[in-house]
Parts: sequence; C-alpha cells; structure tokens
Amino acid sequence: MRRVLLPILALFLGMGVVSLLMGQDFVQETPKHTIKDVMKQAHGAKLLNKVVDGSASKEEKDQLLDLYISMIENKPPKGDSDEWLMKSGRLILASAKVAVGREKATDELKAASNCKACHDAHK
Ligand code: HEC
Repeated sequence: MRRVLLPILALFLGMGVVSLLMGQDFVQETPKHTIKDVMKQAHGAKLLNKVVDGSASKEEKDQLLDLYISMIENKPPKGDSDEWLMKSGRLILASAKVAVGREKATDELKAASNCKACHDAHK
C-alpha cells in the first residue's frame, strides 16, 4: 500500500508547488514608481528624448531603465494584461539595450515607446 501511496503523495505535493509558482503574481506589490510618475519623469521631463537622440549620460539611461521597470510592476487603468506585459517588457528590454550600449537599440526604444499605441490600449 505504501509503495502506491508515496508516489501519489509526491505527485500531489509536486503539483501543489507548481501551481503555487504559477499562481505567484509576477507583478510586485508596491511599484517603485507609479505609471503617472514614470510618464512625468520619463516623458514630461524629456528624459526619453535625450536617451533616443543620444545626448543622455549613463546615469540618465539607467534612470530611464529604472522608470520603465516600474511599468511592469504596475497594472494599467485598462486593457489586456498580457498586452501590458508585452508593451512594458519591450520598453524595459529596449531601454536596457540602450543602457548597455547595444547598436541600433535607440530605434527599438523609439518603437517601444509609441505613446498613442499604448495610450489607446491602456490609458
Ligand atoms: C507602454 C505604455 C505607455 C507608453 C509607451 C506611453 N504611455 Fe503615457 N501613459 C500610460 C498609461 C497606462 C497612462 C495612464 C496612467 C494612469 O492613469 O494611472 C499614461 C499616462 C500618461 C500621461 C498622463 C499622466 C498623468 O499624470 O495623468 C502623460 C502626460 C503621458 N502618459 C505621456 C506619454 C508620452 C509623451 C508618451 C510617449 C513618449 C507615453 N506617455 C508613452 C502608458 C504609456
């Protein structure tokens, strides 16, 4: 009897762990910056423009990356959550590529930071 029960028990335990991991919310409880803060600091203050046109310092590139990381930590006021993960993920990836000095990354950042595309879907 034990020989049958143990593997079954192990299976259930395993499934419990997997479902726990899958159910774990990827989104942080308390974002470092709200979406509005990100918009003000990254877009209102022209930080994004400087990073895109290549005049930003290393600190400014890192600051933009830090702000964009907070996008994925937040939930948008509206729109599909997978879409949101994709859009904010692209922003993070593109600004990270710029921060580490990858070639052509500013083009990617320009595309990922399309104001209207994101606002239409999530604002
Ligand atoms: C990946 C998505 C995304 C992109 C890209 C994006 N925004 Fe936003 N933006 C949002 C969301 C979501 C809100 C609404 C935030 C809220 O109401 O909490 C917002 C709000 C704003 C606001 C209003 C902030 C406030 O205090 O109410 C401004 C201004 C703004 N965005 C400017 C821009 C500009 C300029 C760009 C392009 C350079 C841009 N955004 C690109 C998602 C985005």
